[in-house]
Amino acid sequence: MTVVINMREGVDARKIKLAARFILNGKLVAFPTETVYGLGADALNEEAVRRIFEVKGRPPDNPLIVHISRFEELEKLASYVPREARILAERFWPGPLTMVLPKKEEMPLVTTGGLDTVAVRMPSHPIARALIEESTPIAAPSANISGKPSPTLAEHVIDDFYGKIECIIDGGETAVGVESTVVDLTSEKPVLLRPGGLPLEELEKVIGEIEIHPAVKGKLTDVAKSPGMKYKHYSPNAQVIVVEGKREDVRRKIEELVDEYRKEGLRVGVMATQEYEADEFFHLGRSEEEVARNLFKALRELDKRGVDIIIAEGIEERGLGFAVMNRLRKAAGYRIVWV
Ligand code: TXA
Ligand code: MG
Repeated sequence: MTVVINMREGVDARKIKLAARFILNGKLVAFPTETVYGLGADALNEEAVRRIFEVKGRPPDNPLIVHISRFEELEKLASYVPREARILAERFWPGPLTMVLPKKEEMPLVTTGGLDTVAVRMPSHPIARALIEESTPIAAPSANISGKPSPTLAEHVIDDFYGKIECIIDGGETAVGVESTVVDLTSEKPVLLRPGGLPLEELEKVIGEIEIHPAVKGKLTDVAKSPGMKYKHYSPNAQVIVVEGKREDVRRKIEELVDEYRKEGLRVGVMATQEYEADEFFHLGRSEEEVARNLFKALRELDKRGVDIIIAEGIEERGLGFAVMNRLRKAAGYRIVWV
């Protein structure tokens, strides 16, 4: 009962129409965006949105992002669009930026996890845009079972949802690899709720200093603003350990840990930007962009290769590195070795 539509060669108007019909009929369609794959439904259809939560196993108080294809749609979803939102949209949309704004009455509470705010993003991926254009604003979380690494390939979505949703559009590998940056614009000062595909430095160049929500740093004090932050995230089956510190020290520590765990009879995987000897190794690439693109794939892939433990090399927190380290530390359940 799952139709897999191949669109790796690019947008195909006839196939988009088919997928759009599923959305308009209240069905679920997984589709590629430039960040990760999304699991979409008509944002205004409560029944359809409820099913997203069901199939993902997502707690109902963790709100969804609504995806639009034109700026005017924002005014139908948000009751008020502050000046910063206009400036940011002008500069960064379409792209990996999500803005939290006060919601309009019509926006169902199911979609917003019971909050009086709504998160909105205009993706740049041509398939995502064509699908929205041909249907309606689409509510879509990342298309993974809750708690698992986000999908960057249609195969990941198939692994999690084949037989459980009506349609999966295969658009090949996603370009950015980590989810969008989420900024809350409902208080006096903008607040970063999730580092993501748009570097914080880029945002600050345009609207000045942005406060960072304490939960972004792993402090689970005030989670009311972004309920997603309190849940387990990005975890493969294998235990993940992150090693952070100076490059040479990290190298020595990882080698030591690999030896130690192997002596205990465990199958050890390493994901890193330098080469390592281990039972399984995944090279993450050299630049922050490459690491971001490969991160979730590496976690899923090492799991498939059956390792018991994944040792991940930490990278610098600048640019996309901020989003990468945020995901890695969560994947590790904050099991971090500092050297
Ligand atoms: O790149 C992305 O953002 C991908 C693609 C599919 O667009 N989507 C995505 O959705 O990552 P999801 O559901 O996995 O993450 C959405 C995040 C969650 O942390 C959620 O708590 C937060 O955005 N969020 C959504 N609505 C919110 C709201 N009204 N207030 C605060 N946080 C909100
Ligand atoms: Mg997600």
